[in-house]
Amino acid sequence: MAEYNVDSEKLKKLEEYIDGLEEKEGALINILHEAQDIFGYLPKDVQLFIARKCDIPASKVFGVVTFYSYFTMEPQGKHVINICMGTACFVKGAEKILAEFKRLLDIKEGNMSKDGLFTINTLRCVGACGLAPVVMVDGKVYGRVKVEDVENIIKEYRK
Ligand code: FES
Repeated sequence: MAEYNVDSEKLKKLEEYIDGLEEKEGALINILHEAQDIFGYLPKDVQLFIARKCDIPASKVFGVVTFYSYFTMEPQGKHVINICMGTACFVKGAEKILAEFKRLLDIKEGNMSKDGLFTINTLRCVGACGLAPVVMVDGKVYGRVKVEDVENIIKEYRK
């Protein structure tokens, strides 16, 4: 499996999972979920491996990965910061919150910080509009976030 530029142990684990499936093509979503669990994200070589293993075009795999926002092709930081950009949060200044996270961590949306600790993502409405603007870090919800709070939120996860 040396032709793939990814961790061979992890690739082996994924191969075992795929080999254990009766129907491969119809299980593409499940395979991608498993692959993302194993690798933390879906790099190009993992997608190619899945395409060859399941005998489906790489373009189809790529299409599914890019269609579902759950799947990511970027390595994820230890902590994932999700900023809600739904209407209620947007109206209450979510853009400024996002800009402050980007400024303090010196990364773009979707990217991982150099220390590997953080990734910033945005979401549509997370169903907590009464708390707008809303930020979620690893599933923990922060409501009515102000620009001044951003530094303290980051500090909580730097400890
Ligand atoms: S718009 Fe952000 S929680 Fe609804």
